[in-house]
Amino acid sequence: MTEQTVVVIDHGSGYMKSGFSGWNEPQLVLPSIVNYRPCKENPGPSSARRRLGLGIDLLHPDTFSYPIQRGRVLNWEGVEQIWSFVLQKHRLIHEDTPVLVTESPLKDPVERKKTLEIMFELLDVPALLLADQLEMSLYATGFLTGMVVDSGCGLTRVQPFHLGRPIWPTGKMLEFGGQDLSDYLVKSLFKEDSKMNKLFRLQTVDAIKMTKCYVPQKLVEALDYRQSLPSGYDDSNTYILPDGTSVELTPMQRLAPEMFFSPQVFDQERPSISQAVLDSINACDAALQPQLMSHVIACGGNTLYPGFTRRLFLELAPHYPSCTDASVWSHSKRNFSVWLGASVVAHLSTYKSEWMTRKEYDGHWWI
Ligand SMILES: Nc1ncnc2c1ncn2[C@@H]1O[C@H](COP(=O)(O)OP(=O)(O)OP(=O)(O)O)[C@@H](O)[C@H]1O
Ligand SMILES: [Mg+2]
Repeated sequence: MTEQTVVVIDHGSGYMKSGFSGWNEPQLVLPSIVNYRPCKENPGPSSARRRLGLGIDLLHPDTFSYPIQRGRVLNWEGVEQIWSFVLQKHRLIHEDTPVLVTESPLKDPVERKKTLEIMFELLDVPALLLADQLEMSLYATGFLTGMVVDSGCGLTRVQPFHLGRPIWPTGKMLEFGGQDLSDYLVKSLFKEDSKMNKLFRLQTVDAIKMTKCYVPQKLVEALDYRQSLPSGYDDSNTYILPDGTSVELTPMQRLAPEMFFSPQVFDQERPSISQAVLDSINACDAALQPQLMSHVIACGGNTLYPGFTRRLFLELAPHYPSCTDASVWSHSKRNFSVWLGASVVAHLSTYKSEWMTRKEYDGHWWI
């Protein structure tokens, strides 16, 4: 198990990342989206039946959905289709490889059982390892003790680890992520009766998020500065739509990722990401807290906003004045941290006993 190439799949609420272990990034990154097209093979009364397709059907751009939402699988047929496509692609290069699938810390037994069923019975994999997503992010850094902060499309989760194992029950999960930021921007940028379809609106908002939005060090100062600028003074507020028309972004739209740090400003009732980290660290043994504070590990796509990790540090450090080496660790590929850590774990001998082979599955020794 430890020498053979492994296909590593990190299937998030927003993006599916997959590739061969040992590589320094996933080779396939797909939006985790499926669509249901009207099924031509079933005309007549059964025409209501629809065929599942991958990604977005450009002829019916409003019929797509995300099979995983907020870390939970809502549509197994969609997940199955995505995994089947992914394995088919990877098997063109390496046949019959073991597979590592990352799983949400919720570890729902029903989801686990279904994952085993799809992987062994339908996709015929020779061996499977289910690995905790946050634990994988820890391994991506090489630390064994630290505080993982993962903010993705549907969820923001924090989990302290000691010697490679999660410290229960001190983790926190916020049902908040990049999709909520997108919703805010869609609502504030487009009118209800806008003729633009859902796909166009989401793509525009995604591009704006990645090129125009940032986290300020201090919200009030950033707003005062932006509001003091004469209209049209700052070119970077303008986003050009594909049809050539331009959208002028308001200061609040550019500062939308502030939602992670000041939910109250957006009338959202939940703790800020910094508060979740502090609550989680404070629930741990006092002797461990300085070590956790000096190894806060930022990962997941949202932490790529300019200013995000700096702001997190600025909000955490004053709470631990005695911890002189408080640090937020991040690397440029932190949106792939879970995948990168899993790609290492796939070859660790310490995980050897956690793999399940097809023979073991067939013998139902796992029940
Ligand atoms: N460069 C970037 N700048 C800002 N946001 C980004 C950037 N790249 C990705 N994102 C955002 O990060 C989110 C996706 O992150 P990620 O891939 O970690 O989520 P996921 O694993 O699919 O979801 P989850 O872990 O919540 O199930 C999206 O909302 C996306 O808009
Ligand atoms: Mg994720």
